[in-house]
Amino acid sequence: MTATVALADSMHVVTVLLTVRDAAASRAELLRAATCLRDGGLVAFPTETVYGLGAHALDRAAVRRIFEAKGRPATDPLIVHVASVEDVHALVASWPDAAARLAARFWPGPLTMVLPKADVVPGEVTAGLPSVAVRVPAHPIAHALLTAAAIPVAAPSANLFSRPSPTTAAHVLADLDGRVDVVLDAGPTPVGVESTVVDLTGSEPRILRPGGTTAEDLAVVLGSVVGHDGVVAPVGPMVSPGLLERHYAPRAPLTVYEGDNRSRLLDRMTADVDALLAGGRRVGLLLHDEDVVSRPVAQTRRLGSVARLDLVAARLYAELRALDALDLDAILVHGVDDVRGLGAAVRDRLRRAASGRIVRT
Ligand code: TXA
Ligand code: MG
Repeated sequence: MTATVALADSMHVVTVLLTVRDAAASRAELLRAATCLRDGGLVAFPTETVYGLGAHALDRAAVRRIFEAKGRPATDPLIVHVASVEDVHALVASWPDAAARLAARFWPGPLTMVLPKADVVPGEVTAGLPSVAVRVPAHPIAHALLTAAAIPVAAPSANLFSRPSPTTAAHVLADLDGRVDVVLDAGPTPVGVESTVVDLTGSEPRILRPGGTTAEDLAVVLGSVVGHDGVVAPVGPMVSPGLLERHYAPRAPLTVYEGDNRSRLLDRMTADVDALLAGGRRVGLLLHDEDVVSRPVAQTRRLGSVARLDLVAARLYAELRALDALDLDAILVHGVDDVRGLGAAVRDRLRRAASGRIVRT
């Protein structure tokens, strides 16, 4: 019965899981995945940020399969991944000095640049925009795959639309098993939040999405930066449709608590937990390692120490998925106030997950 249903679904493919711990030792697996990409297939692969869902960026039909597999609206443009800076030139119509300096300092790495697109890039990739987002990832398996495929690879995060981005192959399979051709498993991704997206099409560089490359690091190269201020929706004209995407929306409503007075914030969280429990609700908490609560709740998970935002970023999406699996009525999260370094990206992702339910204490 299940088989009949599966066959009736035009989406259904047999997903092949290939373990690749090391590029040199996994030549055969990487060649198989590269061939699949060249032939128009879908390959999920690790990057240093999160797992990506790749397709041949110059093959319109292959790119359309990405949107089908994820259930992603076609209005949300994709990032094109290439093996080296030289490969970017064929994809863009201009290469400003700022791009050259950023590439020299941060590529390969968790930085995406938005530049005027070359004609060769199909509108399916850019959602019809005149610009294209490009990135050279640093993960050795991503690099080996892109080198073997020798084509530009369009890849969003390899999750179903509105689920957290995947940081393990198990997360990818949970969302996309039967919907993609190949999943390359190289273990957990080290950075854990997506790349920083910088728009270089305007008069000055502008951060569209905070991520794995910090604003402070960008400012060192650019002189000043232009910022993303932690506000979820961009102010002014909508330059990046995907930024307004509902993004990750947990099944249970998630509320994020912010404020620099820890005891006042925890008192407020505790009061809200008590009210929810009194109403018979199942409550989950996501706290810092530093947080001590007077009335522990069974479903409490930890983000790690806020003194180590790199480690918080690395586990953030796994923790959100774990809470989502608990069948809760409400999720209360102690957010991040320190927007230095990776704090900006972590706070941004938590605020998006909360869809505006932010309690400032
Ligand atoms: O770390 C990452 O960036 C991961 C890995 C797989 O590389 N990819 C990723 O892709 O996060 P995705 O599709 O989940 O997010 C891409 C972001 C979206 O916010 C999208 O709106 C923006 O990049 N973007 C893509 N093309 C753009 C363009 N031409 N102009 C403005 N924003 C663009
Ligand atoms: Mg995404």
